[in-house]
Amino acid sequence: MANTATIEIGGQKHEFPLVEGTENEVAIDIKSLRAATNGFITLDSGYKNTGSCESAITFLDGEKGILRYRGYSIEELAEKAHFLEVAYLLIFGELPTAEQLDKFHADIKTHSVVDDDVKKILDAFPKAAHPMGVLSSLTSALTAFNPDSVNVDSEEDMYNAIVRLLGKLPILVAWTMRKKKGLPLYYGDSSLGYVENILKMMFKQPNEERYIQNPILVNALDKLLILHADHEQNCSTSTVRITGSSHAGLFASISAGISALWGPLHGGANQAVLEMLEAIKADDGDTKKYMAKAKDKSDPFRLMGFGHRVYKNFDPRARIIKKAADEVLGDLGVVDPILDIAKGLEQEALIDDYFVQRKLYPNVDFYSGIIYRAMGIPTEMFTVMFALGRLPGWIAQWREMRLRKEPIGRPRQLYVGATERPFLPIAER
Ligand code: ACO
Repeated sequence: MANTATIEIGGQKHEFPLVEGTENEVAIDIKSLRAATNGFITLDSGYKNTGSCESAITFLDGEKGILRYRGYSIEELAEKAHFLEVAYLLIFGELPTAEQLDKFHADIKTHSVVDDDVKKILDAFPKAAHPMGVLSSLTSALTAFNPDSVNVDSEEDMYNAIVRLLGKLPILVAWTMRKKKGLPLYYGDSSLGYVENILKMMFKQPNEERYIQNPILVNALDKLLILHADHEQNCSTSTVRITGSSHAGLFASISAGISALWGPLHGGANQAVLEMLEAIKADDGDTKKYMAKAKDKSDPFRLMGFGHRVYKNFDPRARIIKKAADEVLGDLGVVDPILDIAKGLEQEALIDDYFVQRKLYPNVDFYSGIIYRAMGIPTEMFTVMFALGRLPGWIAQWREMRLRKEPIGRPRQLYVGATERPFLPIAER
């Protein structure tokens, strides 16, 4: 294959180098396009064809349904690894030795407290506030309580900011839920594993001396967090990288990522799926009606949890989660009619021409809410749980961007507004 691409504009040819990734993906390097062509830019809304960086963290092939973190398949990691190991792998590039993992966890535990004044900020939110808005605000507020985590230039500074955030975010997540449920806030138990501690922080009742861990819940949460841990340059991750590219601190960048994740077209889909399935149930389980609505172009309704910008084959995470949903509900002895509705809807969509032609398959969020619900997590908290899982991925991407000294993110635009015109005084308008 040629190692350049030629663009011809007005009869003049310009050559641009081709860059090949380790999985043989090829990109046209257009860094010099504007200078070489005297002002031409590319236009690609939604960045459907535009690579924003070179990255060594996550590989995904949407046509083949492949997802790998640092070269390890998502199927193998979900089956054999623990969330904290995966977090280390994503952030630092290699699976940790036992010693490295112990140190990493010990460093995180040292920082697994937040300033008690954060409670006052949480207190000021109305109980009805959406947990994602609360989490994003509290994460941003952490910057004020940890000013030395803002200007991080050395790898050591970055490491300190990273373990701090991995220690503090689970507390904010648990507090957000406890506030919603009217439960007293709890700081957790540093004798526990990372995921066990999250569960205890979320679910320990004030009138119980001990919280008894349920291994089914621990395994289910561990797996869900791993499946959500990274997904290359999606909307929230791109937000984290672009925010961090101005050298805004890690906490501020992650807070921006949480806001980006909130929307129903992205992480907010897990809440939207559950609400959609509930609506179908309340409508006598009439899946056909909702299929018709999803296909009707005059109706804004979409089948939530279906479709993906990159996967045009099955989302491999959805396959794992669907199996996990069956196992977790079975192990917990939960019978949830919503699971049957979800399966019925999936069956119909998989053989429906509209969905087949557009290559719309269930994505990671189609079944995850059913598991969260069986675990006793309120629907409005689902996207918060996604954020907790995505944290190591966001951190890894932010760190990579800083270590590669990437330039500030600043796209161009094609201006289509009014051309120059004289100012009219208010009396003449
Ligand atoms: N239901 C019905 N039709 C759909 C759906 C859906 N869920 N998703 C896409 N389509 C249709 C579009 O209407 C469009 O049809 P057209 O070609 O006739 O105009 C076609 O499929 C292509 O869709 P786009 O919106 O152009 O695809 P894009 O890559 O921009 O969007 C997205 C991907 C946002 C995920 C979309 O599929 C969607 O809205 N899905 C539902 C929300 C969802 O589940 N989001 C979670 C994604 S996973 C994650 O972020 C964690």
